[in-house]
Amino acid sequence: MTSPKTKTAIFISGRGSNMVALVEASKAADFPADFALVVSNDPTAAGLEWAASQGIDTLAVDHKTYGKDREAHERAIDAELRARGIEFICLAGYMRILTPWLVEQWSGKMINIHPSLLPKYKGLHTHERAIEAGDAEGGCSIHWVSPGVDDGDVIAQARVPILDGDTPDALAARVLKEEHKLYAATVRQILTKK
Ligand code: GRF
Repeated sequence: MTSPKTKTAIFISGRGSNMVALVEASKAADFPADFALVVSNDPTAAGLEWAASQGIDTLAVDHKTYGKDREAHERAIDAELRARGIEFICLAGYMRILTPWLVEQWSGKMINIHPSLLPKYKGLHTHERAIEAGDAEGGCSIHWVSPGVDDGDVIAQARVPILDGDTPDALAARVLKEEHKLYAATVRQILTKK
């Protein structure tokens, strides 16, 4: 019998705590994604080891090998995704700006998590910027990946209060807890609807 679950890859560049949250959620029998592959552009990403310990296939394609040819790096990854029958991609702390080529290949099949309430604070240092602006709330967003950085349609958001005396690290930790819940819930919702 073929699996009704969507064969999904998670892209990481570092510790991979969102990846862990997704994989843990997928242990529920009715979860609609099968996280079949974890991809990293950094062969030393800590999350790769955890994924392997769970019996998940891992793939490290070091972007440094490709110099400035970002598309060649992505074509190498894309070929592996196709060879493995991957149908959907969750970016989870993947710290490369994607080329329009890859975005086009996976249009409507690739989502990202970003640690701000988009459209505010695209890019880096989101928590620092939210505190500096005097915002009352921070949060995270899941969005479809489009050619602009952190620019695609927002699918879901979670909010947390910004407290007096908050540091970027304290706020990041508060938001991260919400990221873990929101990412799993959103993947469940999107892929159940498919
Ligand atoms: C998260 O804050 C995510 O929103 C951002 O990068 C961070 C990755 O953290 N895109 P982790 O590797 O999932 O722990």
